Amino acid sequence: MKIGIIGSGNMGRSLGILWAEQGHQVFFGSRDSEKGKAVAQKAGLGTQGGTNDEAAAFADVILWTARGVMPSELLSNKEVLNGKIIIDCNNQDIPEEFAYPAIVESLAEKLASDVPNARVVKAFNTMAQEVFELAPAPLKDYQVSVFVAGDDEQARSTVMQLATVIGFAPVDSGVLRNARLVEGLGDFIRMIMIGQQQGSYATISVNVLPKAEQQRLGGRQASALY
Ligand SMILES: NC(=O)c1ccc[n+]([C@@H]2O[C@H](COP(=O)([O-])OP(=O)(O)OC[C@H]3O[C@@H](n4cnc5c(N)ncnc54)[C@H](OP(=O)(O)O)[C@@H]3O)[C@@H](O)[C@H]2O)c1
Repeated sequence: MKIGIIGSGNMGRSLGILWAEQGHQVFFGSRDSEKGKAVAQKAGLGTQGGTNDEAAAFADVILWTARGVMPSELLSNKEVLNGKIIIDCNNQDIPEEFAYPAIVESLAEKLASDVPNARVVKAFNTMAQEVFELAPAPLKDYQVSVFVAGDDEQARSTVMQLATVIGFAPVDSGVLRNARLVEGLGDFIRMIMIGQQQGSYATISVNVLPKAEQQRLGGRQASALY
């Protein structure tokens, strides 16, 4: 797969290297072409680097790491993204005392409004960079969830594969509107990591448990509430 990285900071560099290690063709884009090239040179693995425009033109799948910066602002021609998969890994800024405002429109939905012909998928926002350093092993042993939300089923499936190959456990999280919930989880885990001082290795995993052998509590009774 051809993967373009928009913004070669912590997330872009980490995920780009991990995907290149799995044999994907990766182009590190940056506002500064020399920075993109330097990141690629350090990464090796046949990666390339340059401008964000070049990364967007090169790729079929794009990782968007520039929080709140829209393609219409960052790229000289946003139409280059038409039909392409854009992974949005962004979280909102952390407010004082983690008093997050309610999310009525997610960052991923805002991105999708700017490029309605691209296939935007929310993913990789609920774990810290430190966790990527453990990928793909020993990370795989911990079954850390990556919540994947997007309106295009095939795009979701592609992103779930990209999560699996680097050692995560993808969770199909449905349509892009659900990115509001996924971004809420990103806010929550950062409150746990930083606010509750659990550290950067705190993660979220969805488990499916076996049914209890006995319903000794009476089991679930009919109720109008869920
Ligand atoms: N770091 C984490 O642990 C982590 C985990 C999960 C989610 N996230 C989320 O992922 C996003 C990126 O985080 P990060 O840690 O990678 O941040 P970062 O290290 O600061 O990298 C973000 C990159 O975006 C580009 N950028 C920043 N401001 C820009 C602007 N005004 N216009 C255009 N490009 C700009 C820059 O790339 P160039 O200098 O190359 O242009 C920058 O290096 C954030 O929304 C964050 O909340 C981070």
